[in-house]
Amino acid sequence: MNEENRQGMKIPVHIAIIMDGNGRWAKRRGMPRTFGHTQGAKVVEQILEDADHMGVKYLTVYAFSTENWSRPQTEVKALMNLLRRYMKTSLAKCAKNNVRIRVIGDKSMLDEDLQASIANLEQETASNTGIGFQIAINYGGRDEIVRAVRRAAGQGLLDEIDKIDESVLDSCLDTAGIPDPDLLIRTCGEQRISNFLLWQLAYSEMYFTPKAWPEFNREELLKAIDAYNHRERRYGGLTNE
Ligand code: FPP
Repeated sequence: MNEENRQGMKIPVHIAIIMDGNGRWAKRRGMPRTFGHTQGAKVVEQILEDADHMGVKYLTVYAFSTENWSRPQTEVKALMNLLRRYMKTSLAKCAKNNVRIRVIGDKSMLDEDLQASIANLEQETASNTGIGFQIAINYGGRDEIVRAVRRAAGQGLLDEIDKIDESVLDSCLDTAGIPDPDLLIRTCGEQRISNFLLWQLAYSEMYFTPKAWPEFNREELLKAIDAYNHRERRYGGLTNE
């Protein structure tokens, strides 16, 4: 898509991505699955920059699900090491690009050193005012809702039944304060949500592409945004026509 076609395009405020197909992409090249993840991590960094330049305000990526622990230990370890490296090396870049990082998911299950680097990165970038970058690690949508209910109960927010509403639960989710995604992108052909942002995706537009995550780039992101521009969002209401 050339620059002219992009003029007047509506840019989603929040884009969520299920980065699928790292393993298949690597296997097709006769490489180990972990090579796909390494390549995938590079793509994440590039897409964050591209999304930011396009004017996207929030980007949320699914890096490791609550179900991913059942993968072979070597793969789990490689993914954790990639995330570990990312948390350590991205601080300078985030400072330069004004990126604010938040990790969503149950962090208590992660190794202590990783938890510490995440806390450090979140703290150091908390007052940045540019794009919000959410990384889902040990994340499951159902698990997040259960943890939100527990948090709400712990704060006494469920004591009066009449006062329980969507905003109460919303404020106890890992994504509290972040608007729901306008657009969900999933790569590599599968067309399902896989326990990602179950609450937040209620009215999001879905975009599926056969491209594997390591092949995803700025051009593919623009295609997804273009498709989004051709959707009519009704939020359960009627059109004006
Ligand atoms: C799905 O591909 C991808 C993952 C489970 C991991 C995604 C992680 C990264 C892209 C790297 C780390 C991220 C950051 C933020 C630095 P798959 O392994 O399920 O592929 P397959 O479906 O082809 O097997």
